Amino acid sequence: MINTLNSYNELSSTVADVVEAQIKEQPLSKLILPTGSTPLGLYEELVNRELDWSNIETFNLDEYLMNPDHPYSYHSFMKKNLFNKINIYPDHCNFPFRPTLSFEDKMNVNKGIDLCILGIGTNGHIAFNEPGSSFKSRTRVVDLTEQTIKDNSIYFDSINDVPKQAITMGLRTIMESKKIILMASGEHKLNILNVAMNGEVTEDVPASILQNHNNVEVYYCD
Ligand code: PGA
Repeated sequence: MINTLNSYNELSSTVADVVEAQIKEQPLSKLILPTGSTPLGLYEELVNRELDWSNIETFNLDEYLMNPDHPYSYHSFMKKNLFNKINIYPDHCNFPFRPTLSFEDKMNVNKGIDLCILGIGTNGHIAFNEPGSSFKSRTRVVDLTEQTIKDNSIYFDSINDVPKQAITMGLRTIMESKKIILMASGEHKLNILNVAMNGEVTEDVPASILQNHNNVEVYYCD
């Protein structure tokens, strides 16, 4: 179930191929997109491919509870790495934000999410659904674990600057996507990836819920 690729470039271009095919086959697609270091190559690849994003709508997996204009917010990350470089309408770029209900309502308009791209945290989280999150969870405010705060401190000036809370899509929300791609890069992700994909399906390992989805592809490079 885990497809191991030879390099980070191959990981990025393989997932970009999936996104490109989706956009070309269904120009009105709705996509769920991740942040973090893993998708940076994917976004660079997508920018270079000069696809037509004019009818695409995106939904980001999560956002810190912080000012969206802050340079380290996920809004800023997405603008810098993708949205400012493609022909997507700013109104089509959605982030989980209060009130949460309207966010999920918007995702479900027409036929829901066509393609969801995910990363995985070293503790098995997907989006900010930390270990112990309910498999029935929906978009909500969550406390980040010490591990996630530590992992994400590399993006901030100091660990004290990392927000302690975030708003995230839930596990049930993610599972309603028609197709899911999980991408992971680096040996530090291999163990949790194996546990999530081949171990017990348990709320202690949020990504393990993906074993219950009938259209998931997992791509890894070390
Ligand atoms: P990363 O984060 O891509 O920065 O490793 C992945 C995640 O925490 O979901």
